[in-house]
Amino acid sequence: MTASPPDARLARLRGRLERADQAHLLRFYDELSDDERSRLLDQIEAIDWETIPDLVRTIVLHPPDSGDLGTLEPAPYLPKDAEGQWDKDAARHEGERLLRQGRVACFTVAGGQGTRLGYDGPKGCFPAGPVTGKSLFAIFAEGILGTQRKFGGLVPWYIMTSPLNDEATRAFFREHEFFGLDPDQVRFFPQGVMPSFDAKTGKILLAHKHEVATNPDGHGGAFRALVESGATQDMRTRGVEHISYFQVDNPLVRVCDPVFLGLHASSEASSGEMSSKMLPKRDPDERVGVFCLRNGRVAMIEYSDLPEHLARRRNPDGSLAFGAGNPAIHALSVDFVERVHRDPAMALPFHRAVKKVPCVDLESGERIEPAAPNGVKLERFVFDALPLAHRSLILETERVEEFGPIKNAEGEDSPASSARLQSERAARWLESVGVRVPRRPDGSVDATIEISPLTAMGPEDLADRTDLPREIERGARVAL
Ligand code: UD1
Repeated sequence: MTASPPDARLARLRGRLERADQAHLLRFYDELSDDERSRLLDQIEAIDWETIPDLVRTIVLHPPDSGDLGTLEPAPYLPKDAEGQWDKDAARHEGERLLRQGRVACFTVAGGQGTRLGYDGPKGCFPAGPVTGKSLFAIFAEGILGTQRKFGGLVPWYIMTSPLNDEATRAFFREHEFFGLDPDQVRFFPQGVMPSFDAKTGKILLAHKHEVATNPDGHGGAFRALVESGATQDMRTRGVEHISYFQVDNPLVRVCDPVFLGLHASSEASSGEMSSKMLPKRDPDERVGVFCLRNGRVAMIEYSDLPEHLARRRNPDGSLAFGAGNPAIHALSVDFVERVHRDPAMALPFHRAVKKVPCVDLESGERIEPAAPNGVKLERFVFDALPLAHRSLILETERVEEFGPIKNAEGEDSPASSARLQSERAARWLESVGVRVPRRPDGSVDATIEISPLTAMGPEDLADRTDLPREIERGARVAL
């Protein structure tokens, strides 16, 4: 930033605001302290004013036309049981080589605000282990430690926070001594923000007289944040070629799945750019995105955007025609991430959400807590990069093995439903090596069981253990 006298800076920024029709952001400038003035000007300077008028015109003031999805067909995917369609052993072999040689990094998007869960803190700190109460971050860290132990290579971990939870996230890791990881292998960086807009007028809202209202720019902000924070450069220095991507809310995720990573990296079909796991949707109303072919290219259609008649369409065998659900697990090459960020032709679109945004009333100067949604937040989604990959491979996975997210306080995708899935997966793994697990008449597990990734990352890791119980008691709470 070039240092210019305060008046010159104010005049320059005022000019930019006027050209973008947003000069009201300086309405209370004269009332502010020096410190508040300079914070406000810093914030205004960081906004990309060239793009704002277009965004206001094309998206802020107009709900997107959901009829404009182009042609949609179900996306093809590789079935989980290879059965001659793909070579699972070769994929595993390649994935294990990548892990042994330290060519894979983990990347967690943890910048969301977690409003639905009603948890006051970064979501990764939420106690997710049904017996131990271990946090989501602790469970992922154990997955990384377990991977390193099993394959030998170092797996650096990049965590995207937001300006709202960055410091609390770092403090949590320090407090827990990085869960046994080397602090040098964990890197945090905040994602960017976008200004929040008044839904009726398209004017950017002021959160306070000295502060523009902003919101995190969506997990699609990851491309920019990974490159501009220096994370991709750090990956290159370490020899990392591929990124194992997962969301902060899913304790069942396998943080580095050698089969998936190997398939992604070696497959000509994906060119190793961006691959995805998919799982069959539970029912037409499940709130997961759906993999489709949109105008012939792999794309994700969010649950809120998929037309009702397509969401309910069935194949002759009764399965959902558009049933390839998104567990938000991807593999991306470092090259692809940098290309998406640098090539203006690959800029990801913004999605519009209308939310309650507390703001200052421009007439009275009073702060308002709106009773109804008043503001537009613009976000980018990581999966909008799928059509940009040369070709995009999708691998089927099984819900109980990999997807038990914690999103809501109760009901589906809650701590209770995730705990049930974690117990069910643990029970399966134990039963596969001969441990007797109590089940209720409906087949559900009558115990709470938690297996740390340090104990096993799959049933194969339990095969040689001599310290397992022979039987789990009804109603028991067991952590292995
Ligand atoms: C998301 C996916 C959905 C998928 C489902 C699987 C979107 C828009 N939809 O839905 O297709 O089937 O997960 O669980 O993502 N995040 C950031 N920064 C942000 C916003 C979000 O890092 O600015 C992170 C969150 O911390 C979280 C993840 O992205 O880890 C998902 O965000 P969320 O808004 O909860 O998405 P869902 O509606 O659950």
